[in-house]
Amino acid sequence: MKGAIVSSILISGAAAFPFVVDVSGVDSSMIQAERRRIRRQQPADGAGSAANCPFNANHVPAAPVTSQYPYNNAKNGVIGNQKGGYQVPAPGDTAHQFVAPNPDTDIRGPCPGLNVAANHNFLAHDGITTYTELVDAQQNIYNVGYDLANLLALLGLTLTDGDLVTEKLSIGCDATTRTSVNPVLTGAEPGLDGHNKFEADTSLTRNDYFTHGGDNFKFNGTLFGMMTETTGGNYNLPNLALYRYQRYQQSVNENPNFYFGPLSLLLFGAASFLYELMPSGTRGYAPDEYTISSFFGAEKNADGTYSFNNAEKIPDNWTNRVEPYTNELVGAEIIKMYLLNPVLFGGNTAAGSFDALQGWGGLIANGTIPSAVDPKVTSCLLYQILTERVPSYLNGVLTPTVEALSLIASKLSNTDFSNLGCPAPLSK
Ligand code: HEM
Ligand SMILES: *[C@@H]1O[C@H](CO)[C@@H](O)[C@H](O)[C@H]1NC(C)=O
Ligand SMILES: *[C@@H]1O[C@H](CO)[C@@H](O)[C@H](O)[C@H]1NC(C)=O
Ligand SMILES: *[C@@H]1O[C@H](CO)[C@@H](O)[C@H](O)[C@H]1NC(C)=O
Repeated sequence: MKGAIVSSILISGAAAFPFVVDVSGVDSSMIQAERRRIRRQQPADGAGSAANCPFNANHVPAAPVTSQYPYNNAKNGVIGNQKGGYQVPAPGDTAHQFVAPNPDTDIRGPCPGLNVAANHNFLAHDGITTYTELVDAQQNIYNVGYDLANLLALLGLTLTDGDLVTEKLSIGCDATTRTSVNPVLTGAEPGLDGHNKFEADTSLTRNDYFTHGGDNFKFNGTLFGMMTETTGGNYNLPNLALYRYQRYQQSVNENPNFYFGPLSLLLFGAASFLYELMPSGTRGYAPDEYTISSFFGAEKNADGTYSFNNAEKIPDNWTNRVEPYTNELVGAEIIKMYLLNPVLFGGNTAAGSFDALQGWGGLIANGTIPSAVDPKVTSCLLYQILTERVPSYLNGVLTPTVEALSLIASKLSNTDFSNLGCPAPLSK
């Protein structure tokens, strides 16, 4: 199952785009001859590479929830209570107190939500996690709905970042020797740092891959400052919609290899986590600077700039959201945020030249999402990204393999996707 997910690549007729990739597992021989290639994988020895990935010889799994400190009682990957409003970590629960990551042994990556979970031992502290840990932790800490928790874990695993057999995933750099069932068979498993799969351009606080030598996963204080200035420290829907629009313009202008495809829709979902998952009941569920800074490990300096303090942490006295954050809810936020400041899907083909993506999944047409989008399409949005062919960069398509689709079908069989009317994964 070499390159489990990326089993095929589609080549459009016109050789329009200069940035055709070389992703492990993709047969790109047809395009290599005719086009300049730019690697979108983390290079062998650069940022996010296996060579620079922290190594822990003594892997310790996540601390499970207990009857004394049950949280949502989510364990072993099954559905929990789906009822939040409680304090995390629970007073007295020493197993889930914050412990700063050790840069020599602990992997952290582009996702503050998972970095925080690992720092509090809801995921393995070294950042080599499993499907089950991911599904449990999202429910127990953030009260993510069971459907969305499974979907995000599947996205993490199957967008070529993790291993379908061991169900292990690095939350940051390439740790193939520890995640893969057999590195010879699977090839490199870049982890969540891998570019243009789950990770994409125009992140809130992370650089674009190409403009910063492959560093697309570290916290950037300048970007955090820009986000805080634009939002005025109120990271709500309209303010984040505006900041995301500014980041898009920045990428169009600065990144000649900029690409904004259907997978970029995930970034609107991640942005919604600032006002849906991070706020605390003890602060009236306000997405304020105090709260958001704590999750991002952002520290304000005397001169007004921000630095990373290596302490991505649940704020003190934090209580989580009461009702679960479901697939349907995040799908609606994604579309709302997009439609507040619509931008074209597509990519830069040369300096000053942007080509729009023609269509995808009944959602994107002529580079944009129509404002009268079918609510059914919205609720199936993330599911479509998971199960359909997705252009992951222009001229390249991620196609889920039979192995991935069968994993998806087995994991989702006890969630209620069928009720949404989403197409079944193995039906095509
Ligand atoms: C299995 C579950 C999850 C996976 C696999 C995952 C993965 C990722 C990845 C790959 C990114 C980078 C996207 C990019 O900006 O290019 C990201 C960003 C982000 N994630 Fe997660 N995530 C998960 C769950 C969560 C949860 C539960 C939270 C909630 C607190 C969260 C909060 C965020 C935020 C706020 C960002 C944006 C960071 C930024 O742009 O600076 N994630 N996530
Ligand atoms: C942080 O982001 C700013 C704005 O995009 C950029 O100019 C700067 O080079 C980045 N810094 C680092 C250390 O990557
Ligand atoms: C947390 O709650 C405790 C007890 O109510 C209080 O003493 C403390 O000041 C609070 N800390 C913060 C940061 O709100
Ligand atoms: C896309 O644009 C073309 C040319 O402007 C137009 O003919 C077509 O109807 C548009 N399609 C949609 C779905 O808007």
